[in-house]
Amino acid sequence: MRGAARALWRWLVAIVLLRSGALRRRGRPLPGEVDPSERHAGAARGADLAVVVLLLATALLAACFAALFVLEPDTQLLGLALGLALGALAAALIVAGRRLVPQETKVEERPALARPDQLAPAAEQLRAGAEGITRRRLLGAAAGAAGAGIAAAAAIPVAALGPGITDQLSRTPWRAGRRLVDEGGTPVAALEVRTGSFLTAFPEGAQQDDLGAAVVVVRVDPAMLRLPAPRAGWAPEGILAYSKICTHAACAISLYRSPLNPSTESRGPALVCPCHFSTFDVLEAGRVEFGPAGRPLPQLPLAIDAAGVLRAAGSLSDAVGPAWWGDRR
Ligand code: FES
Repeated sequence: MRGAARALWRWLVAIVLLRSGALRRRGRPLPGEVDPSERHAGAARGADLAVVVLLLATALLAACFAALFVLEPDTQLLGLALGLALGALAAALIVAGRRLVPQETKVEERPALARPDQLAPAAEQLRAGAEGITRRRLLGAAAGAAGAGIAAAAAIPVAALGPGITDQLSRTPWRAGRRLVDEGGTPVAALEVRTGSFLTAFPEGAQQDDLGAAVVVVRVDPAMLRLPAPRAGWAPEGILAYSKICTHAACAISLYRSPLNPSTESRGPALVCPCHFSTFDVLEAGRVEFGPAGRPLPQLPLAIDAAGVLRAAGSLSDAVGPAWWGDRR
């Protein structure tokens, strides 16, 4: 009796083992085991909604960037909107890559394929892998919206560099007769400009943040001037004015080298840009004495009116800023 029971037990174990081996070979789950494709489908259903939300957030934030660029181009807000849009896009791609795309790696010994119809099971497996993505149309629409938003965010700033911005940059407020004023709008008297120091002046009544507006004003000994003949009258009493925008990369000129004893110094007074130390000779029409700047500082011809106030005697001698900005006279 005990021998018969033991034999029966062995038969049962053998049947179960053979059955499970057959199922594994066919790639089907064992009884009580969750089908991997079903597990993937369950996870993907939650993930695809998250990807849709993130893609729509990308589109919305990119549209905010475009709207801000046109209506209220505040640098911080623009950076925030674009940064959040790209962050949402990155998060959408990460979630899609990790949760929507099947992550299983299977290695199975296979004989060489003999006939094309043997590819059918592999094609079926590929198709099944994408079955978990249930909101494909919604995902496609959200991806399209996100793409359009990012494209608009990239295209609008590029479009802003067109002819409109060139016109805007090409205007300079300097005209003959315009008084020089300080930051507070007070006219600059010739007597205020002292040898050895410099001041910043603007055209009266103009926007002070206009790139072509600010000039630096210095006074030197008129006997030391080496201006070209056509500019002989541009520096009354030795007072000179040059554009404050460096011709290298448009930094503001903010240093002035003034020898304490010009008779013993080999180098004369010069305006210096702190960014890359381009140095401009004020005695010689803003000639580049040192540094990477490619051309002289534009000079503003000056005159002193009957009240002793400095006035422009014309427009700037040359384009303001780097040459690649175009003509801004
Ligand atoms: S920007 Fe002035 S030297 Fe470079």
